[in-house]
Amino acid sequence: MPSTFDVIIRNATIVDGTGRQRFGGDIAIAGDRIDLVGDLGDAKAASEIDATGLVVAPGFIDSHTHDDRMLLSAGDMTPKVSQGVTTVVAGNCGISLAPMPNAVKMPVTPPLDLLDASGEWYRYRSFADYLKALRQTPPATNCVMLVGHTTLRAIAMDDLGREATDAEIAVMRGHVVEAMEAGAFGVSTGLAYRPAQAATTREVIEVCRPLKDFDGLYCTHMRDEADHSMESLNETFEIGREVGAQVLISHHKLAGVKNHGRSVETLCHIEKQMHEQHVCLDCYPYAASSTILTAPNAANSPKTIVTWSKAMPSCAGRDLADIMEELGCDLEEAVARLQPAGAVYFRMDESDVQRILKFAPTMIGSDGLPHDEQPHPRLWGTFPRVLGHYSRDLGLFSLETAVHKMTGLTAREFGLRDRGVIRAGAYADLTLFDADTVIDRATFDKPIALSDGIKTVMVNGAIVWNGQRSTGERPGRVLKREKA
Ligand code: ZN
Ligand code: CU
Repeated sequence: MPSTFDVIIRNATIVDGTGRQRFGGDIAIAGDRIDLVGDLGDAKAASEIDATGLVVAPGFIDSHTHDDRMLLSAGDMTPKVSQGVTTVVAGNCGISLAPMPNAVKMPVTPPLDLLDASGEWYRYRSFADYLKALRQTPPATNCVMLVGHTTLRAIAMDDLGREATDAEIAVMRGHVVEAMEAGAFGVSTGLAYRPAQAATTREVIEVCRPLKDFDGLYCTHMRDEADHSMESLNETFEIGREVGAQVLISHHKLAGVKNHGRSVETLCHIEKQMHEQHVCLDCYPYAASSTILTAPNAANSPKTIVTWSKAMPSCAGRDLADIMEELGCDLEEAVARLQPAGAVYFRMDESDVQRILKFAPTMIGSDGLPHDEQPHPRLWGTFPRVLGHYSRDLGLFSLETAVHKMTGLTAREFGLRDRGVIRAGAYADLTLFDADTVIDRATFDKPIALSDGIKTVMVNGAIVWNGQRSTGERPGRVLKREKA
């Protein structure tokens, strides 16, 4: 034991991320790692943090984000570190900023415009170039990167309205190999989105073939999260089996009034399949979803709020019904006039959200959209909401379980060695919070708001959030998938 450490956190209530009962103790940090956990007596450190009355947990891992650009353009990652998040998984829903070997076609095809509508940030020729930029100008958080199938389609195909030819599949597969060699964790798809809808199951399987050799992940925003959820689950399982890859069902939900309650059915099906192949899933803690604005989505939603509109920027934050009335037109026309645009849809049932959150294998992922004018509150509130609202106030599960779903479980599924847990030898990614007061403050009306109760957040041994603001430290790393 070195005579002095860099940091000692004293008098902590430690929730270690494994799901086990909290315990009291001190934590000593040397460099970027935890050196000792226990009673540190009169050991000395360059700095000490008194954690009396606070929980110390592993830093939260946001399993589902669209932070590809924010990691570079706003690397303080304030919406994330202010919630206690220390690692983000980006490149989801088929959308990744890289690779883009030639200039992106303008206007940027939705949903690729969720990351950047100007096209300016689609500037990384290869996946390796993108990861190099992340290493050269590191963000505050660690990152885990996926390569998006829709991005690959946009590169390889001149017409996104059909299945890819064998030659186009070969081009996409080449990009998958390049991305995996550079350090991607896997491939994501967004088969529900127009530019990927025409992709057949066979196309996805063939594009994803290289995942097997790299032990990569297949993450999917499924083709359907409403009436045909069961068929979509089966397609997902088939792709995973055929490719020989672990599958991750992104933001599992049941959309549309007539599907309310059907999470009983889907979770039972997922659980059964878990005995046959490696399946995992995540979910965000809200009964409203958010993505690009489309007429079919809005038609299926009892209430829709516009989150951004290029054509009519002043409509951001307004109810689509009011906009229709003001324009004196029907839904189809209002949606057409707002394009390109984003929206929040209130079309899930709270009982499904709670059932999915509570399901033991479910991880927490925000699915936040950092470039929306009036974003869904999940961008700023997801993790404190699970801790404060769902765990403490509703008693949906214990604090230990809540923390596990955002740390140890996620680290295990993604293969993040020595992260997501508090023990000697693990990286010093830590979040100190007040379990009695932690709560989200971001709402649908006022979606950009800091949460309460998150005190100190540390990434690789450096403090990135001091309870009020970002410290300016940028210790984040590009992580590697290392299966235990
Ligand atoms: Zn998605
Ligand atoms: Cu997403």
